[in-house]
Amino acid sequence: MLPNALPSATDHVPVLAHEVVELLDVQPGETVVDCTFGAGGHSALLAERLEGRGKLIAIDRDPTVRPYFARFGRRFPGLQSRLLRGDFAVVLRQLADNGVRADAILMDLGVSSMQIDRPDRGFSYAADAPLDMRMDPTADLSARELVNEADEAELASIFKRYGEERYAKQIARAIVRRRAQRPFERTGDLVETIKAAMPAPARFGDGHPAKRVFQALRIAVNDELGSLEAALPAAVEMLRPDGRLAVIAFHSLEDRAVKRFVRGLEGGCECPPDFPVCVCGKEPVLRSVVRKAVRPGAQETAANPRAGSARLRVAVKT
Ligand SMILES: C[S@@+](CC[C@H](N)C(=O)[O-])C[C@H]1O[C@@H](n2cnc3c(N)ncnc32)[C@H](O)[C@@H]1O
Repeated sequence: MLPNALPSATDHVPVLAHEVVELLDVQPGETVVDCTFGAGGHSALLAERLEGRGKLIAIDRDPTVRPYFARFGRRFPGLQSRLLRGDFAVVLRQLADNGVRADAILMDLGVSSMQIDRPDRGFSYAADAPLDMRMDPTADLSARELVNEADEAELASIFKRYGEERYAKQIARAIVRRRAQRPFERTGDLVETIKAAMPAPARFGDGHPAKRVFQALRIAVNDELGSLEAALPAAVEMLRPDGRLAVIAFHSLEDRAVKRFVRGLEGGCECPPDFPVCVCGKEPVLRSVVRKAVRPGAQETAANPRAGSARLRVAVKT
């Protein structure tokens, strides 16, 4: 089992914090669900708006967030709050099926700074560590299994789709060749293989040469898109009328999935235009609060480079 990390000064900085608070517009007495608790930065800002009344349900699949939740509890002693450990797709479905309703739901996707910064989690190409990358350390699939067992075509497709890696095929081929001699155990071995598979000029291009492959593996290991797509309908089901859903995505595929999902529920009647009255009965379920995804300003990106690729979408249940 992983030791719990203790809260420290270098913890995760909540992204688009001001925008999330303004757009989710939490009122005292409401129920808030933070699907991605992490260090509890967004939760604390939203809890302040509850003014001691209401409820905050925190979800995270990573058990090492527990000390952060304990700190949150000490800061807001009067608030009803609980931490549910698990994939938000599963937890939201259980809550919705049990009739739990919410006024504001937040998803701040991806990994936290604490996960990246702890070398033993294997998320980082910057430190040599066991190949892992599981947000939930009890999950079956780790990066080690994926890298050693997926076939070449599957690896190439993961690197291309989730990492937009230009040399996806070459890297997949190099991995398969290298693992035939010795399986990959450590991030350092993988970084070396990735670098060697790339043409020399590409190694000095856009950021660290292993950045895109590591991102792609992390998304695949944690089935991040699958969880998001399963969670969105459950979140909408949980929302009360006028309830708000906010999603911060860091990858264009995630942002596109959110955009498409919201659009799909924004439309009303689908009857042919020559029908005198509506017979389909379809009514809009969501309304976007922002016309386009909200992006961080230059000041936020300068202070927190991780915010650079963030896109926030917010919708209200009609
Ligand atoms: C970007 S961090 C959230 C940071 C948080 N908003 C804050 O201000 O501290 C994402 C967190 O969500 C968790 N997470 C990501 N995907 C998840 C999922 N499908 N189910 C549950 N937790 C998830 C990760 O373990 C991580 O702790």
